[in-house]
This record gives sequence, C-alpha cells and structure tokens, in this order.
Amino acid sequence: MYEERFDKRKFDELRPIEAETGIIPNADGSARFRIGNTEAIAAVYGPTEVKPKHLEKLDRAVIMCKYDMMSFSVPDRAKPGVDRRDMEIGEVITNALNRAVMVEEFPKSMIGVYVYVTQADAGTRCASLTAASMACADAGLPMRDLIAAVAAGTVGDSVVLDLTKEEEDYEGGTTDVPIAFLPSKNEIVLLQLDGAVSREDMKKVIEVGKVGALKIYEIEKEALKRRFSNESKS
Ligand code: CDP
Repeated sequence: MYEERFDKRKFDELRPIEAETGIIPNADGSARFRIGNTEAIAAVYGPTEVKPKHLEKLDRAVIMCKYDMMSFSVPDRAKPGVDRRDMEIGEVITNALNRAVMVEEFPKSMIGVYVYVTQADAGTRCASLTAASMACADAGLPMRDLIAAVAAGTVGDSVVLDLTKEEEDYEGGTTDVPIAFLPSKNEIVLLQLDGAVSREDMKKVIEVGKVGALKIYEIEKEALKRRFSNESKS
C-alpha cells in the first residue's frame, strides 16, 4: 500500500513549478520549464529553409526536434550522444508539436526545436514538451493551442499525479502515463503507458492528468504574458 507520498504531496498535487520564456537571446523563441527536480530548456529556430532539401514538404513546415539529456542531469551521468530513448522522445515531441503549431502556414520550410534536460527526476518528456510549446509561442509561431503535459500514473494501489523517479522505482509496482493536452481543444496529443493498469484506473489517471495539465496551462500562459508585458515596457 502506498498511503503517503515520499515527498508528502497530495496524490493529485503537482511539484513546484517555474516557467519562463525568452531565456536564449540567440534563438527565435525559447523557454525554461521546471517541475520539482526536473527541468527542461527549449530553443526554437525558424521557419527557415529545409536542410536537407529532400525532407521538404510542399504543403507545410517540417518540425525537426532534438531531445537530449545533459550528462549532469542524472546521478549516473547520462552518456553523451543521442540514444534510442532520445530519438523516441524527440519523435513523440515532434508528433505533438505538429498538432499544436499551424505548420500548414509555412510550406517548404523547417522549424528546428532543440530541447535539453538540465535536471531529471522523472517526467522529462512532459517537461520538454511543455517547454518546447512555450518556446514555439515565444517565437511567434501561430498555434492552435499551447501544449500542457504532465505524467500521471499509479504507485502501489494509488492513482498519483506527477511521479518522481523515486515513485517510478517503487517496489510495490508502478505505472507511468505521460499525457499532453491541447487544453482549449480538449485534445490529447501524447499518451504513453509504461506498466500495466486496469481500464478503471486508466480513466482516473487520465482525469487526474487532465486537471494537472490545466494548472500547468495557466502557468504557461502567465509566463508568456509576463514576457510580452515586459517587452512592451522596454
Ligand atoms: O523522463 P521520462 O519520465 O519522460 O522518461 P523515462 O524514460 O520514463 O525516464 C524516467 C526517468 O529515468 C528520467 O526522468 C530520469 O530521472 C531517469 N533516467 C536516468 O536516470 N538516466 C537515463 N539515462 C534516463 C532516464
């Protein structure tokens, strides 16, 4: 039985969050998103010419996303270079961004999205996706909505929001479900499942994830508002 969370949070409570945009002057758009001890920074370049040219699409922009973990982001030093996990996460982020960014507005062009995890304590794909979507908005790309992403799941018999690595490793059994929403469209743009879960619990997991994502959505919007109100003052 998992009756009290390791970090004493309520089962449906997010870790403390920080969000800011415009952190990388050389990028067209950028953002930092931190949730507990997980932090991702994202930089966006484009739309630009497609390179290599054969990847060009006549009817839309191509999003190219790179996800990487800094060597110092985990206790065991992440191996430098892109591994299969990095490739998979880059791909799921690309798929979700393709639903959020109005890629059809920029035919024959490319949007480069670079996401780096500076600190990892579970939930890095969700933090990365949230940071990437804020960076796209910061770059002024037209979007159907921001993406708000968070992991939910089960630890022992309990449904929990925003698992830590310690919870993911709980020996009584655990299920991790990263979820990403376009909140104003009520659309899920990423849903993955690591572990086994009953249909009933899965419904609860998605519901708790959705409520958490809506809170993250508000924080993202506040960060963007702060950025643009500061810009209009200067
Ligand atoms: O990070 P996320 O939960 O989206 O993906 P994961 O592949 O389920 O990884 C879970 C966690 O394992 C990461 O957030 C890190 O805390 C940890 N991890 C690690 O310690 N070393 C790695 N090379 C990869 C992941």
